[in-house]
Amino acid sequence: MKIGILTGGGDCPGLNAVIRAVTKSALRRGWEVYGYLDGFKGLVEDRRRRLTDRDVSGIIIRGGTILGTSNIANPFSYTLSPYGSPGAPADMTERAIRNFRKLGLGALVAIGGDGTQSMSLRFHKLGLPVVGVPKTIDNDLSATDFTFGFDTALKVATEAVDRLHTTADAHDRVLIVETMGRYAGWIALRAGIAGGGDVILLPEIKYRPADVTAAIRERRRRGKNFSIVVVSEGAAPEGGGMTVMKTVEGSTDPVRLGGVSYRVAEMIEKGTGIESRVVVLGHLQRGGEPTPFDRWLATGFGAGAAELIAAGRFGRMVAVRGPEFVSVPLSAAVGKLKRVSPGSCEVRAALGVGTSFGRADLAARLLKRVCS
Ligand code: F6P
Repeated sequence: MKIGILTGGGDCPGLNAVIRAVTKSALRRGWEVYGYLDGFKGLVEDRRRRLTDRDVSGIIIRGGTILGTSNIANPFSYTLSPYGSPGAPADMTERAIRNFRKLGLGALVAIGGDGTQSMSLRFHKLGLPVVGVPKTIDNDLSATDFTFGFDTALKVATEAVDRLHTTADAHDRVLIVETMGRYAGWIALRAGIAGGGDVILLPEIKYRPADVTAAIRERRRRGKNFSIVVVSEGAAPEGGGMTVMKTVEGSTDPVRLGGVSYRVAEMIEKGTGIESRVVVLGHLQRGGEPTPFDRWLATGFGAGAAELIAAGRFGRMVAVRGPEFVSVPLSAAVGKLKRVSPGSCEVRAALGVGTSFGRADLAARLLKRVCS
């Protein structure tokens, strides 16, 4: 048995831990493992390397991916030369499948987020024996409680919130931290709660500028000379749109968010007169060593992927539900985003400790509820 493995989409801490777990589980079964380079680009261009025990030894701790990745290599609409171009995308599925068969592979493990798993599903429908492994720092895949990378991103974001407290305090400033997360506010919500943020702004709860500034003025009135605002990159004011930084041709989701914190800073300065400064965390959240939780999760996912292959259960994605590793059909894994529920108990818990979500009406409504 020979298997292929690739990492697609944006990188995220824990990818190497999955590669290690898949490879070790496969080698133990007597299989050969081939890693395609740069995601689906490597499959289209037939660029790959054989993975041995030595290649994956010691990489559980390393961020990034030893295989490389691409967030624009889509074999179904290929915009990369020499086969396609942004103006004339090419269908490279036949070539990809031919390369897979030429090597005599019996399975492909595709590690990636929503975009990668959508392609996995399409390849599965075309007859390729694919198993998916979910990754994203955004934690927005609905079929799994957690994706690896999220916990590491949370640690980075929380540390930033912690550190900003002292400097904000020293200067009597408002400091605004912008996290990633795309259309889901999980990183901002949990880092905001864990770091004791005073205001948390999420894509799922459209903020009212007057309510944000009122919350900061109220803190001042109570003698708190500084405030920390945690803003998810997808946050937007009521009646307004998200802040788009750029678009990336060829990407499954070409929109790149970023920069909302500058709008928020301007709004707060105008509404309170307090100097407001911005820290955009960006790709710092995706770099460095994965946390113990992410290594644990990635190892469970990788070993689970090998089990699915051994059992011939293709077209499925590994997932975690509570403490158990499970699998779900790829069709259930894609398309539907898991987003923060504005009425959830964790939002209520944050409100309970005085955090503002930039919506006084939400606070009034939710605080009447009992979660436990
Ligand atoms: O999906 C992961 C993520 O890091 C998002 O949080 C962010 O919006 C996006 O990717 C950034 O993508 P890129 O690395 O292509 O700029």
